[in-house]
Amino acid sequence: MPSARLSVVVTRRLPEPVEARMRDLFDVTLREDDAPMSREELARAMREADVIVPTLSDRIDAGLIAQASDRLKLIANYGAGVDHIDVNTARQHGILVSNTPGVLTDDTADMTMALILSVTRRLPEGLARMQSGEWQGWSPTALLGGRVAGRRLGILGMGRIGQAVAKRAAAFGMQVHYHNRRRLRPEIEEEHEATYWESLDQMVARMDVLSINCPHTPSTFHLMNARRLKLMKPEAVIVNTSRGEVIDENALTRMLRAGEIAGAGLDVYEHGTEINPRLRELKNVVLLPHMGSATVEGRIEMGEKVIINIKTFDDGHRPPDQVVP
Ligand code: DGY
Repeated sequence: MPSARLSVVVTRRLPEPVEARMRDLFDVTLREDDAPMSREELARAMREADVIVPTLSDRIDAGLIAQASDRLKLIANYGAGVDHIDVNTARQHGILVSNTPGVLTDDTADMTMALILSVTRRLPEGLARMQSGEWQGWSPTALLGGRVAGRRLGILGMGRIGQAVAKRAAAFGMQVHYHNRRRLRPEIEEEHEATYWESLDQMVARMDVLSINCPHTPSTFHLMNARRLKLMKPEAVIVNTSRGEVIDENALTRMLRAGEIAGAGLDVYEHGTEINPRLRELKNVVLLPHMGSATVEGRIEMGEKVIINIKTFDDGHRPPDQVVP
């Protein structure tokens, strides 16, 4: 007799090929529309499913995990960041957590470069000029930005994505610097021609561009606080494709308004969709709606990783991307 299929609840719409494969493999409950689940719906899913597939828009905290039934064995996150899941509490309840690292590295690094170039070369202002019909033709003095070649890029967090940014930045002629919890092996530093800074303060004070590529954890929350933002050169710019909580958004907004930092490119925000309204008014910022990993290929590969994690677990093994607290 075939064994019963795993009951899997997915909290958001996923790309069609991923949903189709899940229907083939699991007893899966999929969303009809793309609205995030309410807390009540999430709690019900945690009571009724063997596996839930949340995304970063679902807060799986200790209170919710306490409502899970013994049946729930795996939280197979659709995404790399797991700062919305209380992984420690899940472990105490015997629930495994997995994620989807690796497959969104290139896409997020591309978006980081897109933001660096957009801010330094004033792309949104150029676009606005074209869309308004105001453009009067080429001018020797209009919309002059800064050249990225030769500039110092400081990467805060030199994991997979940080290193992919380093590779791209080097190809654009930037000088790569980094700060990381652990210094990289000499051969990796050499490969990226990257200079290591043990002191984050010292690195921040000397960079032309600062890129945030570390995850959000209790120790990275507001790593770029008001004091550290003030160390930046007034002509420097900051970009963030990681998590908004790493930067004190209010302090950043104040400094951008005061011209104490030249510009910012942000794909993520400290309070999710509740963006500081003053940030929206500024010309020297480029704001994107958290689309760093938003490619067709990347989102399908993320789904494939989720499926492999669930299947491997169902076969009695550790999911390959199990997150260990
Ligand atoms: C992730 O997977 O954590 C990303 O932020 C999604 O783009």
